[in-house]
Amino acid sequence: MRTEIDDLRALIRQHERKYYIENQPEISDAEFDVLMKALEALEAASDAPIPPDSPTQRVGGGAVLGTRIPHRNPMLSLNNSYDEQELREFGERVRRLLEDAPVEYITELKIDGLGVSLIYEDGVFTRGLTRGDGEYGEDITDNLRTIRSVPLRLVETETPFPPVLEVRGEVFIPKDRLNDINVQREAEGEPPFANPRNAAAGSLRLQNASITASRPLDIFIYTLNYAEGVEFATHTASIEKMKQWGLKCDPHTDCHKSIEDVQNYYTHWVEKRHELAYETDGVVVKVNEFSHQNELGATSKYPRWAIAYKFNAQQAITTIERIDVQVGRTGVLTPVAILKPVTLAGATITHATLHNEQEIRSKDIHIGDRIVLERAGDVIPKIVEVLTAERTGNEVAFVFRDRCPVCNTNVQRTEDEVAVRCVNMACVAQLKRRIAHYASRNALQIEGLGPATIDQLVDKELVRDVADLYALEVEPLSKLDRMGVPSARNLVHQIEQSKTAPVEKVLFGLGIFHVGETVAELLIERFLSLDALSRATLEEIESVDGIGPQIAESVVNFFSQSQPLLNKLREADLQCFRVAVDATRPEASTVMDSFFSGKTFVVTGSLEGITRTEASKEIKARGGKVTSSVTSKTDYLIAGEGAGSKYAKAVELDIPILTAADFSEKLQQGNV
Ligand code: IVH
Repeated sequence: MRTEIDDLRALIRQHERKYYIENQPEISDAEFDVLMKALEALEAASDAPIPPDSPTQRVGGGAVLGTRIPHRNPMLSLNNSYDEQELREFGERVRRLLEDAPVEYITELKIDGLGVSLIYEDGVFTRGLTRGDGEYGEDITDNLRTIRSVPLRLVETETPFPPVLEVRGEVFIPKDRLNDINVQREAEGEPPFANPRNAAAGSLRLQNASITASRPLDIFIYTLNYAEGVEFATHTASIEKMKQWGLKCDPHTDCHKSIEDVQNYYTHWVEKRHELAYETDGVVVKVNEFSHQNELGATSKYPRWAIAYKFNAQQAITTIERIDVQVGRTGVLTPVAILKPVTLAGATITHATLHNEQEIRSKDIHIGDRIVLERAGDVIPKIVEVLTAERTGNEVAFVFRDRCPVCNTNVQRTEDEVAVRCVNMACVAQLKRRIAHYASRNALQIEGLGPATIDQLVDKELVRDVADLYALEVEPLSKLDRMGVPSARNLVHQIEQSKTAPVEKVLFGLGIFHVGETVAELLIERFLSLDALSRATLEEIESVDGIGPQIAESVVNFFSQSQPLLNKLREADLQCFRVAVDATRPEASTVMDSFFSGKTFVVTGSLEGITRTEASKEIKARGGKVTSSVTSKTDYLIAGEGAGSKYAKAVELDIPILTAADFSEKLQQGNV
């Protein structure tokens, strides 16, 4: 019997499809959220187990790295062709092997992402693998589940689902989303991804699917590899069926009767591909009839019925006018080539990062050099070659000075790090970047505090750390260039407003090396306040799921030096300090007597309808204690979806485990 829950799940799946697969949303994001919340509430109130294909079950677990799971049949690669001549040779070979039978060619865009395999059993997504070495892949099921354009359940058609269906496709990140990810990476002290492909690859291999879920991954399915009991005559027919099942396939495909037509499709996309939202590195040409494909067969590496016809990387030649050194928020010094402006793949390029000193040396880059510039993955410009033959003798070698270009402090070079760092915490360049980060949209969101204002505030010594922002007054502010009284008033108002920011935003805003938004949330979920976090030991921080030793060390290091800053922020009356006192000292408030009183709990995994922070607060409000690691002193483990090592530890130590449903029941029991 269909229940209200089933209907709601079906409705949400339909809207997910409209939004993420067909790009034709029928309801607003807010309306969609209301449906999701309603489903979460129904599921929490129901005794029935939540099926893994419920739309609420997208996030949990992560990649199981190191697994070697055999593919049903090898995930082959494609042979490449680079010009019309090679394409014609492919056509000739196909015609010869098929003995002049009429051939239909399908052309598709070659999406520049990661090949993956998805398995559906009776219409439900059960397993996802990387391509791996082609024979064996790694289990990335949990990460693929977070991609909203991957249906967890297929759409029913007039025929039953094949008991087993395996499709293959490409996971990618849209071009214009790379920057967002890199801004976050920079905040976490991680090197930026060079192109969307690397960003997609990195995201798919994460062991924490909640981070993958925050990455804008998308997918196009391009092969129906296996459908038990179902036969198709052509690739086109299989694609049509996959679309009916609700799988997302690239719409820019075509069917051709001749190699000349294939060449026209390619020529069209050489220019037009820049208008697409995702990276493509060529066109894939496939023989349409499966009987032809079987006849043609494959070599050990490539099928003989398909070829990748690659686009040439877009290149331009220009001159390096000078090399500047930029100081990052964490003090990393990055050399940047300032170029004579040149147009490349539709954009004017004026500079290119040189990454580090080693890169300059290995490419033998000089100031004044003529260089070949390429847009790596069409996004970030990269110097691929120095035209040494064009040197005039006037080129100048670049000397990486041992001093910070801004504060003149001696720089630090570590053996294992190629990076050179300015370690002067008071360096004004770093301070300016730190303030900009503190004020940024995902941190304290102080509008009206742009780079020009920050420059003046720091240069005039009105601000020496982020806490000084709270002491700014309208009068002196209004005297700054391009400011005036109304803007100054507005800025003071914005700064005042930022005092109400949630504690995780403040933590992120502090710009601790390796602490990005996700890490900040994880830390606050566990420690609840900046004070508690600043008192935490290395071991306590490291025991938080998703936090490694490098992050823990960076956090401890930061707080050991930053008590004066924290005190200044507290004196500025940031709300997070006030809330924190209540949250971390339950003994000071009225505590309900309950099942939880005097017992020690560990909360892990994602709990339905409640965040871990909220869960901890509820336990504390009822007199319980929450710790981060499972030991013999733990009374109960509360384990949600995706619980991992803590679950195993609890089983090992014979500690009772409460499910999310058990926990919610205990909360509702109230005082006993
Ligand atoms: S078909 C045996 N179609 O390109 C043929 N592959 O260099 C299987 N790719 O491993 C691949 N877009 O990851 C096919 N429309 C498309 C594709 C595509 C991207 C990737 C795929 C493959 C690689 C080969």
